[in-house]
Amino acid sequence: MESIENIVILAIETSCDETAAAVVRNGREVLSNVISSQIDLHTLYGGVVPELASRKHIEKINQVITQALNEAETTLEEITAIAVTYGPGLVGALLVGVSAAKAISFAAEKPLVGVHHIEGHISANFIENKELVPPFACLVVSGGHTHLVVVEDYGKYKILGRTRDDAAGEAFDKVARAIGLGYPGGPKIDKIAKEGNPQAILFPRAKVSGSAYDFSFSGLKSAVLNYLNSCEMKGIAVNTADVAASFQKAVTDVLVEHAMAAVDEYQFTKFAIAGGVASNSALRAAFQEACHQKKIAFYYPSPILCTDNAAMIGAAGYYEYIKGTRSGYHLNAVPNLKLGER
Ligand code: KG4
Ligand code: ZN
Repeated sequence: MESIENIVILAIETSCDETAAAVVRNGREVLSNVISSQIDLHTLYGGVVPELASRKHIEKINQVITQALNEAETTLEEITAIAVTYGPGLVGALLVGVSAAKAISFAAEKPLVGVHHIEGHISANFIENKELVPPFACLVVSGGHTHLVVVEDYGKYKILGRTRDDAAGEAFDKVARAIGLGYPGGPKIDKIAKEGNPQAILFPRAKVSGSAYDFSFSGLKSAVLNYLNSCEMKGIAVNTADVAASFQKAVTDVLVEHAMAAVDEYQFTKFAIAGGVASNSALRAAFQEACHQKKIAFYYPSPILCTDNAAMIGAAGYYEYIKGTRSGYHLNAVPNLKLGER
């Protein structure tokens, strides 16, 4: 086996609407991180259209991989292994990345490592925080997932809680659409909420009975829709910034409350956030404050590493690779892959 000091991973991510490739050395040093976003295309339809996403990935994938290698000033010969997201995600989108990775692995005779998308999001925290090592707790909040996870060791996870219905990002996107902000809603709510009053409207903070760490956001989304309808019926003008700020506060309160209850129960000394919604400025500030009060370390990736990207897949792929994980050419896209499953 090669020296453990110089493992260079070419990573590929196509699980949703970003075509991404990156080159990562030893799990934590990003040599390149190329993301071709399809946001402009899907904005026309108000959300991700799976068939269009797959076609766009096919169009872009080779170009993105070539650019990642060029920017890293490396070649396929110098790469140690190929890591690729094989689930969860949109099946047609995942298949493009998985097929490209298998083709390169075969042609360049390099090992292939399948990576779980959420493991990637969590591992984004390793890139800018060289001192971060497991065990720690991580809240993954994205367009498709809301998971409170214990990272017991590299590649070893225990899920404490998850959403029972909508993901946090999905709630942001749906509420944004309802108040006329368009897609993708998260960043737009984040921005306009800065001008609103988070105490203006008291939206519900849902609890899932019998499960302290699970989440539910569909009731909150309905409460926002009901509020908008009742304003319309009464002829009251809606203050969009107040709705955005109050909704965002309701989401943030629930996430922080559940996470800190877990910190108390399990005595975590390190807490991380990950996924697209982890870019949210109010969420970051609330977690920063809560972790400060508990006197525990708080970690969060830069926005470019929160959104879907391949550098995080390269970080996760490295730890899988040194553990001995290898995927054969039978590797398939698994749209509902569970964390910790192979
Ligand atoms: O991790 P990600 O890029 O893709 C998935 O794996 O789902 O997350 C995308 C989600 C979208 O729902 C988007 O609205 C949300 O992350 N998002 C945000 C912010 N930036 C992105 N939500 C709240 N505030 C933000 N600043
Ligand atoms: Zn994601």
